Amino acid sequence: MKQRVFSGIQPTGKITIGNYLGAVKNWVYLQEKYDSIFCVVNSHAITTKQDPYLLREQTYDMVAILLACGIDPKHSSLFIQSEIDTHPALSWILNCNIPMGEMERMTQFKDKAQKNPKNINVGLFDYPALMASDILLYQTDLVPVGEDQKQHLELTRNVAQRFNRDFGECFKIPEPLIAKSGARIMGLDDPTSKMSKSSTAQNHAIFLLDTPKEIEQKIKKATTDSHSSIVFDPDRKGVYNLLCIYELFTQKSREEIETEFIDQGYGVLKKRIAEAIISTLSPIQEEYLKIRHQIDYLAEVLNQGREKVQPIAESTYKKAKELVGLI
Ligand code: TRP
Repeated sequence: MKQRVFSGIQPTGKITIGNYLGAVKNWVYLQEKYDSIFCVVNSHAITTKQDPYLLREQTYDMVAILLACGIDPKHSSLFIQSEIDTHPALSWILNCNIPMGEMERMTQFKDKAQKNPKNINVGLFDYPALMASDILLYQTDLVPVGEDQKQHLELTRNVAQRFNRDFGECFKIPEPLIAKSGARIMGLDDPTSKMSKSSTAQNHAIFLLDTPKEIEQKIKKATTDSHSSIVFDPDRKGVYNLLCIYELFTQKSREEIETEFIDQGYGVLKKRIAEAIISTLSPIQEEYLKIRHQIDYLAEVLNQGREKVQPIAESTYKKAKELVGLI
């Protein structure tokens, strides 16, 4: 029996090469080895202010992006979170088994609340319980996530262990699968902060659907330094970030890359990086444009995914309900 992988991604607009390298590319790689379930977590997306029309569009955008990146419906089940009602239903039961203090420690909530003081809602606070529900419903073995989600996964494990102990065996205890590289691609304009899709700075992030021209220009403007050698030195943050991007897009080894750029300047380095990104993204963009408006095809993939996983979620939910005395 293959181990089961579950992961989720929010349908919040454009995704960056950081999201691609840190999450989606890894999913594509994992899907052949594991029984894989991937979810577009639109219910999580309404914890921040949404435009209903845009949210609907962006949910389909994300489905098409995932497919274009290589998520293969033959290997993976892909579905939309709000299509399976047991997600919020189980999160209610989990809520009643998460001490307030444990939830109050979540650093992502504190971050988001600080950045958006006008919309600190209960759902934003409770976000990790819904995420725990996503994971636990499917008896997940492994959860590929970025470093920033580790604390949420720890909370998921805690609530599952506590529930199993207090009410009887119900949930598998999931393990995080933290991507080593790619998880921390930094902003091109500011290599001390993680590349973020919500930054408003023009040359901060490269998006998956950027044109070749935009990619070239953004890389050209990326922060470097006044040294001359091109080597992987984590202290030289700008150049290090660029080299990591090159490494991830070309799959070349660090030695190979350093040799390639001996006696070269940043101009050549930047040109090669842009070329590497463009040649990876072009076929993805082409496929995206081809399928994005094939609504019947997208709906068919999503239906197939949902039909496959819904019974797993329902059986876990039914068990949890019985164990706490809700039937
Ligand atoms: N919170 C995750 C993020 O922002 C997205 C997510 C929601 C998720 N549910 C999940 C990730 C379940 C893994 C498993 O990246």
